Amino acid sequence: MKGIKILAPATVANLACGFDVIGLALDFPKDEIFLYKSNIPGIRINKIDGSSLPKDPKKNVAFVALQYFLKKYKQKQKFEKKDQIGFDIELIKNIHPGSGIGSSAASAAGVVLGANILLGNPFNTIQLIRFAMEGERVASGSAHADNVAPAIMGGLTLVRSYNPLDITKLHSPKELWVSIIHPQIEIKTSDAREILKQKILMTDAIKQWGNIGALVAGLYQENYALISRSLEDVIVEPIRAMLIPAFYELKIRCKEIGALGGGISGSGPSVFMLSKGNYTAKKVTEVMNYVYSPLKVDYKTYTSPINHLGVKWLKIK
Ligand code: HSE
Repeated sequence: MKGIKILAPATVANLACGFDVIGLALDFPKDEIFLYKSNIPGIRINKIDGSSLPKDPKKNVAFVALQYFLKKYKQKQKFEKKDQIGFDIELIKNIHPGSGIGSSAASAAGVVLGANILLGNPFNTIQLIRFAMEGERVASGSAHADNVAPAIMGGLTLVRSYNPLDITKLHSPKELWVSIIHPQIEIKTSDAREILKQKILMTDAIKQWGNIGALVAGLYQENYALISRSLEDVIVEPIRAMLIPAFYELKIRCKEIGALGGGISGSGPSVFMLSKGNYTAKKVTEVMNYVYSPLKVDYKTYTSPINHLGVKWLKIK
């Protein structure tokens, strides 16, 4: 097999209380990536549609993640010079960069998973997540895994530990739906991390780990009331909320109409809300539109179920 088409999903990181550790994959939107194996060494990004992402290799997430993958592959294969290997990439970005729904993670996760398939699956899932995290490091200055893990594994994921990397897939309740509003303003993840405090109060930590534990319990019990009570972030959200227009109004209105709860998607500017069922989720998305339509800010909204499979691929004939 020489070439594949990859569909890489958008993701919501943090999920309120789980800063840097919990994330979920969305069914919509998805990036499309065409990846071709070549015997001409090097990695070439031949086309980027849908965004003005840097073609400069050092700044391009897909390039950096794939370069790291190739480095590890060569070490593993004890590569001989005659077996030259390279890749050609075409990216169709449907997930807007800087949106807070895992645009860089989709590029990074998509190319490493695709390359793994083209080379006969030499690496396991955790290794692929580790390689994709190198792309995140370039995009945001931090190699967090709470977008790339759900992008690759699908569903909801939990990072138990970064060192060593230990990630587990969580149960996704059948009726869990996600509403997203993406205000078209730019928030750099690096800036949104810079403003966070390095020390937190013990009283806040107690609330936060109580919520994380209860959120996981609520997911397994499919206990939507417990999920709702657990979607509370007392550490990161109070600081980042000021970056997002009408953030608290969005939260209040969406919960009034029936959302279980929500918060900032990743480092923003997108805001997510979870709901039980498609019908409520659509109403919540309508409320998001209602809150934002009078503001002088362009925005997009999405309603999506959880994507249980993560990155998908098709053989190119
Ligand atoms: N956990 C990361 C953060 C996700 O909130 O900074 C960035 O998308």
